Amino acid sequence: MSGKPKRLDHPKSVYVIGFIFKIITIAVLIGVTYQITFSHHGPGLLIPVQKKIAAQQRSAIMEEVKRQEEYEKHRHFHNVVEFPVLPESSRPICYICHSDYPHSKNKKVRALLNMHTQFFVCETCHIEERKETDIVYKWYNPYDEDPAGPFFGTSYNQETGNLAEVEDQFSKIAPYFSYGDTMQLAIKAQDAPLAKDYMNVRDQLTPEQRDNVKKKFHINIKAKGHECKACHSKNGILNFKKLGFAINRIVDLEQLNIKGMVTKYEKFYIPKLFSE
Ligand code: HEC
Ligand code: HEC
Ligand code: HEC
Repeated sequence: MSGKPKRLDHPKSVYVIGFIFKIITIAVLIGVTYQITFSHHGPGLLIPVQKKIAAQQRSAIMEEVKRQEEYEKHRHFHNVVEFPVLPESSRPICYICHSDYPHSKNKKVRALLNMHTQFFVCETCHIEERKETDIVYKWYNPYDEDPAGPFFGTSYNQETGNLAEVEDQFSKIAPYFSYGDTMQLAIKAQDAPLAKDYMNVRDQLTPEQRDNVKKKFHINIKAKGHECKACHSKNGILNFKKLGFAINRIVDLEQLNIKGMVTKYEKFYIPKLFSE
């Protein structure tokens, strides 16, 4: 037969049957390999390796963060509807690096402090006072230069006794520096030049360089925020009336006379809160 071309004109059915057998062979091979390596019903030779890789990829930090966030979410006082999130460019610069739950160190009050970030910008508690200017606290809304309210948490629903629901979901109380007739907002958003610049280059920075940049963002920021008493007392730094709080709400906030709260926190917090 040498010299003659190989016979190629088999009937089509031969190719089809051959193909089916190949598929079956491959399937059996895959099955056997799986059985030997990863299957829990076979020797499972590679299962330990697989587990090791998974363990390396799991981040203890991220798990802790997720756990805490879940925890914080469920601890909020008034079961507030989920707050809509501002687009990044309108969010305050602090959120480039900090989350909505920035407080973690002081276990007794961290949930309470974090709860306040729903209606305050960070600077409302963390702004460094200046000698030459007064600080005035007003409702701030990135979409509305002069928000009119009603604002979240300022009054009760008379029928249910819960906080009244409001439409405005973006306004937060923020500090302004007051210069005579003009007021200058004491916070910056993420579209500020320094913030934009930082976000462009941050991946190229060494940890030391990042630390230096951090200091630029922390100018005018106090490490410790205001104490509870600064606001939850008569003649505190917030002018509740001007901010639109209802009279009975003001009384409750000044005395921190909140249903459920008193028994919950009295033991470790309230006594110190009001002692001079
Ligand atoms: C470029 C990133 C970055 C930005 C932007 C930033 N921070 Fe920080 N901040 C950090 C880091 C990092 C720490 C140290 C964290 C720690 O020690 O747990 C920190 C710590 C703090 C502390 C604790 C005290 C201290 O100095 O360690 C406060 C308060 C704080 N930040 C407030 C703010 C506020 C308010 C803003 C917005 C005006 C802001 N930060 C913006 C990165 C940033
Ligand atoms: C209601 C007031 C209040 C608001 C609003 C507030 N803070 Fe604080 N913050 C405090 C107080 C008080 C402390 C000191 C807590 C302590 O250690 O006793 C503090 C401490 C911190 C610390 C260091 C201690 C820790 O718990 O990790 C960081 C970081 C911080 N604040 C960041 C922020 C950021 C970012 C925001 C805005 C998203 C913010 N804070 C908003 C009151 C506030
Ligand atoms: C800068 C002023 C300020 C500081 C500092 C402050 N608070 Fe408040 N707090 C408020 C205001 C204003 C509200 C109500 C806001 C709203 O509901 O819109 C509030 C709400 C609360 C509530 C919820 C009341 C309710 O009925 O919803 C509790 C509880 C509370 N604060 C406890 C604390 C504790 C404890 C501290 C100190 C760790 C503290 N606050 C620090 C201003 C402040």
